[in-house]
Amino acid sequence: MYNIPHMSSSKEFYVANWKQSGKRGEALKWVLEMGQEKNLLADMNKVIIVCPPLKALDLMEQEILIKQLPIAVGIQDIDVKIFEGEKNTGAQSPALLANSATYVIIGHSETRRNNKLTDQDVVNKVKASQDAGLITIVCVEEVNQAKKLKELFGNYSGIIAYEPPSAIGTGNAASPQDANRVAMKIKEVLPSTVVLYGGSVDGKNIKGFVQQSEIGGVLVGNKSLDASFFKDILRNA
Ligand code: PGA
Repeated sequence: MYNIPHMSSSKEFYVANWKQSGKRGEALKWVLEMGQEKNLLADMNKVIIVCPPLKALDLMEQEILIKQLPIAVGIQDIDVKIFEGEKNTGAQSPALLANSATYVIIGHSETRRNNKLTDQDVVNKVKASQDAGLITIVCVEEVNQAKKLKELFGNYSGIIAYEPPSAIGTGNAASPQDANRVAMKIKEVLPSTVVLYGGSVDGKNIKGFVQQSEIGGVLVGNKSLDASFFKDILRNA
């Protein structure tokens, strides 16, 4: 499995969140196209993470491994009610998923909204994921959700992705300065975190975000599906 740089490393994180996209052929094409720039990716000093739907998880992990690409694999959620030893037909256990994945996205605003997640649910997912050895990327829409995490979890140490809902999938990214101000406030609450920005990141606006003092990378939806757009983001960062 991919060798993870320590959280305190100066590397920036680039997370490709595929949501429900990523059929077999698309996944294979993406890995192939990323692999065409293997040396470039290796020289970039960035942590690159792809989070495909579960259906494509093993396939991508295997292909990335075969091609020895410097790309880690993550999942987009875990089931909240699954704990070790429990039987629950149809559920995806974090321990099993941790066989293939290294990272997990938790509490994305779409997941919070569609599954009516409470802050406590998010915390339970973080605990179950960390117990399974996954590195957590907790999404927050505002500083208040970071405060809730602190209140219910304690000193969370991991990755936070600040994603204002108005920017997700709309083409209207937040301003890098505003995102930086929020990232700063999140770090005041949770000092042991790396804060990413997410929401309509593309090859043109990426530089503005990663130049900010408090932003340690980005979480990318739409523009991560096509390897050429994602490589633009990586190159222009
Ligand atoms: P987007 O999605 O880049 O399409 O706005 C970001 C996300 O994954 O939430």
